[in-house]
Amino acid sequence: MGFDIKYYAMAEQEIKRRRRANSRKSENRRAEIERRFPEYRKLRGVLAATGAKIASAVIGGGENVKERIAAIEAENLKTAAKIADLLTLGGYPPDYLDPVHSCGKCLDTGIADDARCECFKNAVKRLAAEGINSKSPLVLTGFETFETELYPDEEEKSSGENIRDIMRDNFIYCQNYADNFHLPNAGILLIGGTGLGKTHLSLAVAGRTLENGFNAVYGSAPDLFRKIENEHFGRENGDTASALQSADLLVLDDIGAEFNSSFYMSVFYNLLNSRMNAGLPLIISTNSAMPELEGRYGERVVSRLITMKILKFYGNDIRQLKRRFV
Ligand SMILES: Nc1ncnc2c1ncn2[C@@H]1O[C@H](COP(=O)(O)OP(=O)(O)O)[C@@H](O)[C@H]1O
Ligand SMILES: [Mg+2]
Ligand SMILES: [Zn+2]
Repeated sequence: MGFDIKYYAMAEQEIKRRRRANSRKSENRRAEIERRFPEYRKLRGVLAATGAKIASAVIGGGENVKERIAAIEAENLKTAAKIADLLTLGGYPPDYLDPVHSCGKCLDTGIADDARCECFKNAVKRLAAEGINSKSPLVLTGFETFETELYPDEEEKSSGENIRDIMRDNFIYCQNYADNFHLPNAGILLIGGTGLGKTHLSLAVAGRTLENGFNAVYGSAPDLFRKIENEHFGRENGDTASALQSADLLVLDDIGAEFNSSFYMSVFYNLLNSRMNAGLPLIISTNSAMPELEGRYGERVVSRLITMKILKFYGNDIRQLKRRFV
């Protein structure tokens, strides 16, 4: 995982904040119980002294060490039972006074089994994704604002199907996809002319997937590829390619609109190939029809694209339609 170093630093900070917040929470809980049950302070003192008592029994040695230790432990259990009774009495859950942790694996240290904990890696990935998404209008277009009435109630010539029905199906497919997002899955390819809602729906899927707790990255292919190129040649800092490779969902908007270069073609192929091999989906939108895509990117790209769910978009440019009526 090669991410921009700043995301590692941000993840460290985030975990530190989490640890502090949780220890404050534990502290507040103790204080709360103490306020309600003043005897709790004494009971806690007894528990806290157990270790020292056992140590001094061991060090002191002499006769009956075992028995004395057993007695200390028995007293300890009794004290713990009294505290449990207080909690029950107060209507608290039995683990109310246990230390609070967001991650049970690393106890909010970010390190488990001598390695970076999963929670730390996820924080780095999420922060890198957020860094990319912050440049996108993710909040502006959702499923809520997608209207199917904007599509003509007419037959589509080649299939004879009703265009509005096709678009309603596309909408429902995308909504279900986002609501039931799981890994692995085959992704979606949105094909059709300008202004038909491809970007709108792609953003809606990215937004909903993020809300559902997955790490989704959205960007237009021209922007993202240019960024990868600049980073590759040292003109910009960062590792966008890694972030795009590892995100749970990558929404690559406007494929085919980027400058036609062999560098971009290999970026696209590598992204497709590595993500698909890892079972990680893409949502790709394009104004280009299949033959155009094949002409531009070649057979090995197209053979991967056709394994995706293909949604064709029909109708009239909605940007123009809206302009006419407002
Ligand atoms: N079905 C729809 N309902 C509401 N607004 C739409 C719909 N389809 C597109 N739009 C709006 O029209 C404009 C163009 O849509 P966009 O998604 O960018 O088209 P595309 O990506 O297919 O070129 C955007 O402002 C978008 O929010
Ligand atoms: Mg678009
Ligand atoms: Zn952890």
